[in-house]
Amino acid sequence: MDEDRLRAILDGVVPLVYKDETGSTNDDAKVLAAEGLAPVLVVAGRQTAGRGRRGNTFLSPEGGIYMSLIVPAPLDSLELLTSFIGVCVCKALEETCGLRVGIKWVNDIYVGGKKLAGILVEHVSDKVVVGIGVNGLVTPGCGLQAIATSLAEYIGSPDCEKICAVIADKTLLGLHHGIDAETTLEYCRQRSVLLGHEVCYFVAGVERRGVAVDVTQEGKLAIRTDDGIVRLGSAAHDVRLCGCQKDSWIVSR
Ligand code: BTN
Repeated sequence: MDEDRLRAILDGVVPLVYKDETGSTNDDAKVLAAEGLAPVLVVAGRQTAGRGRRGNTFLSPEGGIYMSLIVPAPLDSLELLTSFIGVCVCKALEETCGLRVGIKWVNDIYVGGKKLAGILVEHVSDKVVVGIGVNGLVTPGCGLQAIATSLAEYIGSPDCEKICAVIADKTLLGLHHGIDAETTLEYCRQRSVLLGHEVCYFVAGVERRGVAVDVTQEGKLAIRTDDGIVRLGSAAHDVRLCGCQKDSWIVSR
């Protein structure tokens, strides 16, 4: 990531805090958010303590995109906000690289059956920190090649600065105008990698199965089970395609 180029492309659309290396851009952003700053974009060239959901590690070597955007907390549900960010990431990748990707409800971006990017949304008083990580390269020998993919696998030399700036721009613009729930959720349905497939999820440590049938108007995932339709919220559940390994660019708890 080239800081000067990123600043030039952003063209002042949002204040930028750039670090060649940091622990976690979300942690940095949470400090700034607690001071009342928003909007601010925090970007790092690499992270030494990148975090995913549920306390997992998000490996963040040089070459990926690690960005956190502080915005005033919108009134929308967490699922709708996260869905909207997923749409922004999809559109940014398609517009800047011609790469068509899918959404694994609700936080993950997939291509070719593997995870390319993840989203971590965290609240800090009246602000939210939207963290987005896009894999630049899956290092050989890291043990993740079966489940994770990267920009390098699909694009010769990805324009990371442009991708980052377009994601930030689309997110800020959408939040400024207010998220259009119906358009956002319909896009998520069209790009879903789960709908129509058998999925598994856990309730109180017990594995449950069903077929993912819809993303509801509230942004929840509707699953048809033997006991009827179950609607899952993103905070409580980790949903996977049945038969898939732990599904991310995440290695440890
Ligand atoms: C997930 O896959 O569960 C979400 C991953 C989110 C990773 C991004 S990288 C930028 C920001 N900083 C972090 O520590 N995490 C997010």
